[in-house]
Amino acid sequence: MTVTRSVIRGCGSHLPSRLVTNEELAKTVDTTDEWITSRTGIKQRYLVGDDELTSDLAFGAANAALEQAGMTPDDIDLIVLATTSADETFPATATTLQARLGMDHGFAFDIQAVCSGFVYALSTADSFLATGKAKAALVVGAESFSKLLDWDDRGTCVLFGDGAGAVVLEAQPGEGTNADRGIIATKLHSDGRLHDALYVDGGPSSTQTTGKVRMKGKEVFRHAVENLASVVREVLDEAGMTMDDIDWLVPHQANKRILDATARRLNFDPDKIVVTVDRHANTSAASVPLALAEAVGDGRIQPGHLVLMEAMGGGFTWGACLARW
Ligand code: ACO
Repeated sequence: MTVTRSVIRGCGSHLPSRLVTNEELAKTVDTTDEWITSRTGIKQRYLVGDDELTSDLAFGAANAALEQAGMTPDDIDLIVLATTSADETFPATATTLQARLGMDHGFAFDIQAVCSGFVYALSTADSFLATGKAKAALVVGAESFSKLLDWDDRGTCVLFGDGAGAVVLEAQPGEGTNADRGIIATKLHSDGRLHDALYVDGGPSSTQTTGKVRMKGKEVFRHAVENLASVVREVLDEAGMTMDDIDWLVPHQANKRILDATARRLNFDPDKIVVTVDRHANTSAASVPLALAEAVGDGRIQPGHLVLMEAMGGGFTWGACLARW
């Protein structure tokens, strides 16, 4: 029996136009470029304007991904959009995107797994494609996360940015050159007992407000390094591979120190890690596809390369995805 592979046909990204450096931030927040850079590696972030919506960012990224894939919205029959900063409590931002793309067919829904959202969305879309329930999927990570920040809390507001990234997956028979192309393995985890380490203190059923991000930074840091290293090992084991097989690691861009500590634990060459956190900050569900789009766009990721994506976020949620480009 021929297996079906979710082949990655294209990827794209979209950033808001407002660039805010650490120095600029330090004019309104009690912080310094030195503190932010030494603790996180972040030098700047892009932030949405008041009228700029998550769906606007998603639309830009989706169009860029479709263009690279040489496909149109007519070819897509599934949209999975990962976000924590939906335009509205309902409907899903994915259906707003579907309408903006002019689609009158297929189905679309959001995934909420905070910073792990894109890896969750990829894994979900892969399952729909593998079981024949869809033929081609737009998988989007899009966030206007800055709208969830408490700008009086310097421990969190300096860490995040806004943006969107997207990939187009197409179901293809896993034969010939496709035999090991596309998504090879995914692994997802969550542990709701760790809610208090990272959450938003509001929502429709609790406060009827949107709420703001609250975080115990040191606890997040410790769990992130442990969980990311272990889920990477799990996904490699499932595929019968090792870190030596990986051409590029595209991690969730939370913090340069988390990236470095995880790579050390995995004994992985830092030169093979795609890093954008210095320029994008932590864009939650958008961070992995933004980094992917950059590394594909500048030619680092080439057809045939083995790419490992990983992420961890509030919940806690965490996961990894291994794909052959
Ligand atoms: N500017 C200047 N000083 C600050 C700032 C700031 N922006 N923020 C906190 N401080 C101060 C604190 O008030 C504290 O001062 P005090 O010692 O006088 O009380 C001091 O800096 C140290 O604060 P800590 O919170 O202990 O700093 P720490 O060394 O733990 O670094 C950080 C904080 C960077 C948040 C770190 O804990 C971290 O990286 N955690 C991971 C968090 C993360 O990445 N979250 C993203 C979401 S989850 C994910 O994506 C995986």
